[in-house]
Amino acid sequence: MKLTAEEQAMLAGEYGQTTQKAMEILNALGTIYEAERMIPVTSVQISGVSYANLGEAGLQFLAEMADGGGQTRVLTTLNPAGMDVENWQALGIDEEFARNQQRVIEAFARMGVITTCSCTPYLFGNVPHFGEHIAWAESSAVCYANSVIGARTNREGGPSALAAALTGRTPAYGYHLENNRQPSVTVQVESQLVENNEFGALGKAIGQKLEATGQKPLPYIRGIEQATLEQLKSFCASIATYGGTALFHMEGVTPEAGQTAPPPDTITITRTEIEAANQSLNDAASDEIDFVSLGCPHLSIKEIARLAELLAGKKVTKEFWITTARPTKQMADMMGYTGIIEASGAKFATDTCCVVAPIKGRFKALATDSAKACYYAYAKNKFKTVLKPFDEVVLEALK
Ligand code: F3S
Repeated sequence: MKLTAEEQAMLAGEYGQTTQKAMEILNALGTIYEAERMIPVTSVQISGVSYANLGEAGLQFLAEMADGGGQTRVLTTLNPAGMDVENWQALGIDEEFARNQQRVIEAFARMGVITTCSCTPYLFGNVPHFGEHIAWAESSAVCYANSVIGARTNREGGPSALAAALTGRTPAYGYHLENNRQPSVTVQVESQLVENNEFGALGKAIGQKLEATGQKPLPYIRGIEQATLEQLKSFCASIATYGGTALFHMEGVTPEAGQTAPPPDTITITRTEIEAANQSLNDAASDEIDFVSLGCPHLSIKEIARLAELLAGKKVTKEFWITTARPTKQMADMMGYTGIIEASGAKFATDTCCVVAPIKGRFKALATDSAKACYYAYAKNKFKTVLKPFDEVVLEALK
């Protein structure tokens, strides 16, 4: 790989040992993927923040990187942590975990990472533009950045995203290259969708069909006449989870869609398949549900406004987590939504989510509108699940 003089100096340790370590990580990655050079990035989103996933070894790595004097060179935000950093006690998080989680967040902060702790950085300030090279981790946000915004990123892991933040570089391979962004199969959707959970079910149906080909084709999706930001974030989270998809082209949505003719190879997704995908995530009976969560990916302010409308003057009967980013919660505070929602007994689980928080063994069955949350609720915690439209999930919490 050909490095510039500055990149060589980073590798030689002239910018300090943390920058050197970061460049070593990127150089190794670039060599594995046969990148010819590094490219500058302007934005980074780092995953791997929950102490439940990092453990002591991960925390030590971050502490050493921070002790080595590393500083971010570009705008860098952070994925959800394992707890609400202000309100962790109300969520039943134990003190030792909270202490360790705080040390993780402090290590990132020392390196200049903006500790937003959210998987929706594109909702508040970390918003790249079309064609911009970025290095994002967090599969749902990567898929959104590539496919809805048209920015260019590979699906980074926590360490490679941190390395990109500390150097302002990433190896030029994968989705940074024009040739690798061309669709290879047309997906014709034969149904109009209205609810978030339907978009999640569509992501599961398409993702699993693509996975079954064994070739990781890049889909060109046709037939979706309308999709809101909230529906697209739900779809991105789901197709990334079930199909490992980091980039799709959707007609009328993706800026690059239509630059080339739709691929001749076509698969069709019917209404029946979408309903079957939704049904496959419904294995809990209504009376088994003891946990309700909305906000995977993190809720937008529009969704929180709807929640306030639905919960006004009512009382929830189950543990109900509303997961969102702190900047979004601050908007909810300004608008008076927080007070209305909290008066119902529902809890804001800001900075975290029902997947990365350490809640194994605490609940039996989750109701949500997110196909991704259903997948991990079972895979990580063995919870049964119910996947329903947003409004109906709220009704479950009130039953
Ligand atoms: Fe975000 Fe957690 Fe879902 S990180 S996409 S809310 S699993």
